[in-house]
Amino acid sequence: MKPIVTAALGAAFLVAAASPGSAASAGKAVFEAKGCAACHYTEGPAREKTIDDQLAKKGPELWYAGSKFQKAWLGEWLAEPKPIRPMKFNNLMEENTGGHPKLAGADVASVTDFLMGLTSADVSAGKVKPKKNPKGRQIFIKKMPCSGCHQYTGRKNKISGGRSGPSLVEAGVRLNPDWILAYLKKPKVFKPVKMMPVFTGLLSDKDMMNVARYVANFKPKKKK
Ligand code: HEC
Ligand code: HEC
Repeated sequence: MKPIVTAALGAAFLVAAASPGSAASAGKAVFEAKGCAACHYTEGPAREKTIDDQLAKKGPELWYAGSKFQKAWLGEWLAEPKPIRPMKFNNLMEENTGGHPKLAGADVASVTDFLMGLTSADVSAGKVKPKKNPKGRQIFIKKMPCSGCHQYTGRKNKISGGRSGPSLVEAGVRLNPDWILAYLKKPKVFKPVKMMPVFTGLLSDKDMMNVARYVANFKPKKKK
C-alpha cells in the first residue's frame, strides 16, 4: 500500500510544481524567500493555534488577508509600508516606529495576488455597504469604547481617538467592509488573542452592521 500512496502524492506534487507558475504561486515563493513567513501565519484558522503559537509570530495573521484587505491598498502598502498600529504589534508600551520590510518590482503584484487568494469562508461578501451612518458614529464615539482604542478622522479633519488598537484612519480604503462586520461578529475566528474586547452580546447584529458601515466609510476627505 505505502509505496503506491507515496507515488500518488509524488505525482500530485509534480503536477502542482510543473503547472505554469500562476502569479499567486510565484508570490508564495517570494513570501517565503523574503522571510515574510517568519513573522506571519498564512495558514488558518486561528482557532487551531494556541495562544503561544499566536504570540510566537511577530506580525498579524495573514491567512485571511484576501478577505480583510482591499487589493489596491495592499499592493501600495507592500511597496511603501507605513505604520498601521500606533504601537508595536501585541505591545502596548512601545511605539511602532515603522521599518516594515518592503517589496519592489514584480514581487509586489505576485505577493499581492498570493495574499488576496487567502480567504476565509466566515466572511460573507456583499453584505456591508459603506455609508455615513449616525447610529454607527454614536456607537463608535459614545456608546462603545471603540474610539478609546482606535484613531479616526474627527471634526475639522483632526485625528482623534486612542492608540492601543490599529489606526482606523482611512480604514475604508484598507479594509473590506464585509470583513469588518465578520470581525465584530465572529471574534473567535479572527482574534484569539483578546487584545480587543468582544462585542457579541453587547451590540445587536443591527448595531454591528451600523458600526461596520460607519468604519467602512472612513475615506480620505475630499480636497476642496
Ligand atoms: C520581523 C517581522 C516581519 C516580517 C519579516 C514581515 N512582517 Fe509584515 N508585519 C509585521 C508587523 C509587526 C506588522 C504590523 C505593522 C503595523 O501595524 O504597522 C506587519 C504587517 C503586515 C501586513 C498588514 C497586516 C495587518 O493586518 O495589518 C501585511 C500585508 C504584511 N505585513 C505583509 C508582509 C510581507 C509580504 C512580508 C515579506 C516581504 C512581511 N510582511 C514581512 C512584521 C513582519
Ligand atoms: C480596548 C481597546 C479596544 C476597543 C475598546 C476596541 N478595539 Fe478594535 N481593536 C483593538 C485591538 C488591540 C485590535 C487588533 C490588534 C491587532 O491586530 O494588532 C483591534 C482591531 C480592530 C479592527 C481591525 C483593524 C485592523 O486593521 O486589523 C477593527 C475594524 C476594529 N478593531 C473596530 C473596533 C470597533 C468598531 C470597536 C467598538 C465597537 C472597537 N474596535 C473597540 C482594540 C480595541
